[in-house]
Amino acid sequence: MEKGDPIIKVENLVAGYGDTVILEHISFNVYPGEIFVILGGSGCGKSTLLKHLIGLIKPLSGVITIDGEIVTEEDEESFKRIIRKIGVLYQSSALLGSMTLGENIALPIKEYSGLDPESVERIVRMKLKLVGLEGFENHLPSEISGGMKKRAGLARAIALNPAILMFDEPSAGLDPVTSAGLDELILDLNKNSGTTMVIVTHELSSIFTIADRIIMLDRKTKGIIAEGDPRYLRDHSPDPYVKEFFNPVKEKRG
Ligand SMILES: Nc1ncnc2c1ncn2[C@@H]1O[C@H](COP(=O)(O)OP(=O)(O)O)[C@@H](O)[C@H]1O
Ligand SMILES: [Mg+2]
Repeated sequence: MEKGDPIIKVENLVAGYGDTVILEHISFNVYPGEIFVILGGSGCGKSTLLKHLIGLIKPLSGVITIDGEIVTEEDEESFKRIIRKIGVLYQSSALLGSMTLGENIALPIKEYSGLDPESVERIVRMKLKLVGLEGFENHLPSEISGGMKKRAGLARAIALNPAILMFDEPSAGLDPVTSAGLDELILDLNKNSGTTMVIVTHELSSIFTIADRIIMLDRKTKGIIAEGDPRYLRDHSPDPYVKEFFNPVKEKRG
């Protein structure tokens, strides 16, 4: 299949904190419109990698390119252009508690679009509708459920129609039904808007439902130990660790 040029290119990334190397020799591409999932055990560097993709942390070495723009360059203007192309949904949703959902979502639109208040309001209502929260613009975050908070965070992440959406463990803390609903929403958004998605998760059901391709990071080797279609890896990976991850032994009930 012809995939065209990658929208995200990671070349020989070495990442860490101070003298501690967390990841090394990391190279991969993400193509436009893909749902790309980052896997790996706790503490292996998934969030660290995501922060490098956004440009929040500079690598020890290596080059990251987003939509033709080098993230790793020390250039404030280029950083601003890149960050405009990326919507991020953090684990905590990071909604401001003192503001209504509508005000939360209006924030980035007001800051970046220069639109008049009525247009901003119209976009806010449209985004809330897209995530299934029509009519909730006057609610405070404390008045809605965990799943709804994730949806509201998502509405804010897509407020500026980003080309790329990044999620750090979106289903963490959600029950299976709510989590499945969020997966469906992610698939809908991907299908309808063509948004490229990079998602950190370790929910197997979610991975098999949404992922086009995955990479699996490994704490021991600090590298990528598996890459590709998760359904294929589940059945054909030669690596016992990878195979076990995709085929967990179910605990017996009784
Ligand atoms: N700000 C930081 N300073 C120093 N070490 C960090 C920092 N953030 C994360 N780490 C360390 O980097 C490793 C990878 O962390 P992280 O990327 O959060 O893993 P994951 O998201 O896969 O659970 C861990 O050992 C963690 O303790
Ligand atoms: Mg993490």
